[in-house]
Amino acid sequence: MKDILEQLEERRTDARLGGGQARIDAQNERGKLTARERIELLLDEGSFEEYDMFVAHRCTDFGMENNRPYGDGVVTGWGTINGRMVYVFSQDFTVLGGSVSATHAQKICKIMDMAMQNGAPVIGINDSGGARIQEGVDSLAGYGEVFQRNIEASGVVPQISLVMGPCAGGAVYSPAMTDFIFMVKDTSYMFVTGPDVVKTVTNEQVTAEELGGAVTHTRKSSVADGAFENDVEALAEVRRLIDFLPLNNREKPPVRPFFDNVDRIESSLDTLIPENPNLPYDMKELILKVADEGDFYEIQEEFAKNMITGFIRLEGRTVGVVANQPLVLAGVLDIDSARKAARFVRFCDCFEIPILTFVDVPGFLPGTGQEYRGVIKHGAKLLFAYGEATVPKVTVITRKAYGGAYVVMASKHLRADVNYAWPTSEVAVMGAKGATEIIHRADLGDPDKIAAHAKEYEDRFANPFVAAERGFIDEVIMPHSTRKRVARAFASLRNKKVVTPWKKHDNIPL
Ligand code: HXC
Repeated sequence: MKDILEQLEERRTDARLGGGQARIDAQNERGKLTARERIELLLDEGSFEEYDMFVAHRCTDFGMENNRPYGDGVVTGWGTINGRMVYVFSQDFTVLGGSVSATHAQKICKIMDMAMQNGAPVIGINDSGGARIQEGVDSLAGYGEVFQRNIEASGVVPQISLVMGPCAGGAVYSPAMTDFIFMVKDTSYMFVTGPDVVKTVTNEQVTAEELGGAVTHTRKSSVADGAFENDVEALAEVRRLIDFLPLNNREKPPVRPFFDNVDRIESSLDTLIPENPNLPYDMKELILKVADEGDFYEIQEEFAKNMITGFIRLEGRTVGVVANQPLVLAGVLDIDSARKAARFVRFCDCFEIPILTFVDVPGFLPGTGQEYRGVIKHGAKLLFAYGEATVPKVTVITRKAYGGAYVVMASKHLRADVNYAWPTSEVAVMGAKGATEIIHRADLGDPDKIAAHAKEYEDRFANPFVAAERGFIDEVIMPHSTRKRVARAFASLRNKKVVTPWKKHDNIPL
């Protein structure tokens, strides 16, 4: 018996060594942690339950029958993050470059199936040379099975990808279908075709980092939702994110203990809006002052900065925040900001996370650059996402809410539940200057008349009261009491139920 136990321990030690000490050292020398070190940092200490430690591939081509390491290049199982269950797979680059064989894919599929069955998120740590070349179509079939599960799990359990090494070719499409992608600067990349193919086909010279590194994907392409300095920071931030999320779509987000007075008055908000309506201010100040303990988890911080998206808590409960940012492009809506916010709104709606919207939007960005790239369709995404979302929706207009953008940004007409406005709000078809130049075109040569018309327009429309008269704004609130008003609004909506007409699924403009 003792021998058998020792043999088991030996096998385990062998499996834990992955591709061997030399390859582990090489991995660490590149500034990367190993698959197992990453799992240890991601999960609560001692909580990891590993599955399929002794799985080995079945390939017999190219001498592979003599190279059958335990685990087959991916470590899988489940554990907890602050006591809440998550499933995890972590590709082991030290074993055959983390390449995906049929059995490697089967291991991932097994934990994805269990995650869906048992209602817990899947966190995938990607560090792989892609399809195991020696296995040919068996490897591609394995990817296909993973893709299909990504699709089935979408909207059922949160799926989070950490890209911590190579992720190229068709392999990128598994993370691409998950809810959030996080990358590590300088040690990870994602692209459909690498620099060599790019050079051959288009003659462009580009490094892997420039083509598909963390900075590229968080600033330019918006493929990734966050870029971190190193593995340790990335793993810690995913732990923080998981704390905001429900484990599945049938569960409410967790309620955390909070030590922040919900009635907290923020007098400084009364002077947040500058006197001159053309001057910007930082919308993040409002978000931080409303949130429990000023804790804000921003998503896509580096992309389309004219729109802010992320999670806060109110009375310990997760709330998704969408806000125009007047500091960037005056907070205008454009293709990038509409897409960013639409995807975020849909994530919140999938997982029963209420949505808080702060509005200060002068309209849509004009120009051929926008129209040729389809701002009509992309803007419609946000409109559609807000209108179809059945989670509690609370909106606060702080200043401008002009034209179509007023309707889009979670207006009453898109079934927002509670719509507040600060007294500094202006709800109108457009600003006074533009409006006057259109409706009083005949007086354009007479500056005095134009100024008088503009003043008349401002007096009539540069306020929230016309909308409030019609019930489109439920209440004009004091800026300093925003936290309390918003928290109470969400409290009143906790049992919200909406019945929508039966359909297979909608057809959001893609
Ligand atoms: C089998 C692989 C492999 C792969 C790497 N290895 N990728 N084995 N299949 N796809 C092995 C190497 O042979 C090597 O084994 C070990 O992993 C480490 O690789 P190195 O090349 O030494 O590492 P490095 O220099 O860091 O380069 C990493 C790399 C490179 C850039 C990822 O390995 C590479 O280009 N690999 C091939 C990438 C590729 O073309 N994959 C297929 C893409 S198509 P030894 O024993 O020497 O240490 C794809 C389609 C998916 O993935 C489709 C889904 C539908």
